[in-house]
Amino acid sequence: MTAIRLTSLSHAAGCGCKLGSADLSEVLRHLPAVADSNVLVDAATRDDAAVYRLSADRALVATVDFFTPIVDDPPSWGAIAAANALSDVYAMGGKPLFALNLVGWPRGKVPFEVLGEVLQGAAEVTRRAGCLMLGGHSIDDPEPKFGLAVVGEVHPDRILTNAAGKPGDLLVLTKPLGTGIMTTARKRDLVSEAALGPAIASMTALNDGAARAALQAGVRAATDVTGFGLLGHLGNILQASGLGARIEVGKLPLIEGALDLAANGAVPGGTKRNLEAARAEWDPALTEAERFLCCDAQTSGGLLLAVSPDRLDVLLGALRSEGTLARAVIGELVAGPTVARVTR
Ligand code: CO
Ligand code: CO
Repeated sequence: MTAIRLTSLSHAAGCGCKLGSADLSEVLRHLPAVADSNVLVDAATRDDAAVYRLSADRALVATVDFFTPIVDDPPSWGAIAAANALSDVYAMGGKPLFALNLVGWPRGKVPFEVLGEVLQGAAEVTRRAGCLMLGGHSIDDPEPKFGLAVVGEVHPDRILTNAAGKPGDLLVLTKPLGTGIMTTARKRDLVSEAALGPAIASMTALNDGAARAALQAGVRAATDVTGFGLLGHLGNILQASGLGARIEVGKLPLIEGALDLAANGAVPGGTKRNLEAARAEWDPALTEAERFLCCDAQTSGGLLLAVSPDRLDVLLGALRSEGTLARAVIGELVAGPTVARVTR
């Protein structure tokens, strides 16, 4: 274990450093419009990765993701960053092929030995994913940053996108919520390093099994739940599919302790921004802590899958065989305005 507390070098707790949803719109509107028939998915639908068709049966999936230290243990940070970056390939129904490291490092302030441990943690996860680690880029940076660019492949007819939701589809979530709250609680010393175990186990778990199960069950609409929280990423599906949703808070899988910690104020800035930006109709009976959980900025969260009711049993069976951390039916897509109606 290192004597340096990595999270103290980060300007914000956990996902708090992520730009808000409105900020992202400001960034995206400066991207040039793309008209190329081989571009199957671009930023327009706020999907998890870009998809570019190479031939009738092969398309490239490309994504990049990096952030400041979210936990103090260097290999765990590397593993979380890797699982998080790979997840955007899985969220498109793809299979990762190779990855490149992105490193910002405070040289002279934090020994390169620690960076070595971060890289090892990441390499262990990419190895588990069957994804080759081929290089990367590093710069001197006052704040440590780490992540991956990942290139994967997908069959052009089997892409999982935000735009493919149908009214009546049931929403299934494959990991518990609460990693933003747990890591913030740890940063403020409200919980021990050991109490962070379940959150770290969740954030280092790959979404590969969830993606395989989704494809097996014929799912077409999916995303992963990361910095914009459950309602933010669900909102991308609603916007792209032109639908509304109904969510039941009582069905949400939660990391143990997260609800109490949220009630005690362990809420990252990103989660607060997500709640402000959420297009939701809240049941007045819901507590503020419950609303925070619905919007908690996740790192390396689970897949959110929209499945037609007649395929639900196949999906749940496949998720069980894959051993996903959760397989909770949390609500459904409905016709109507692009709002999530949230009840207990
Ligand atoms: Co994503
Ligand atoms: Co991403």
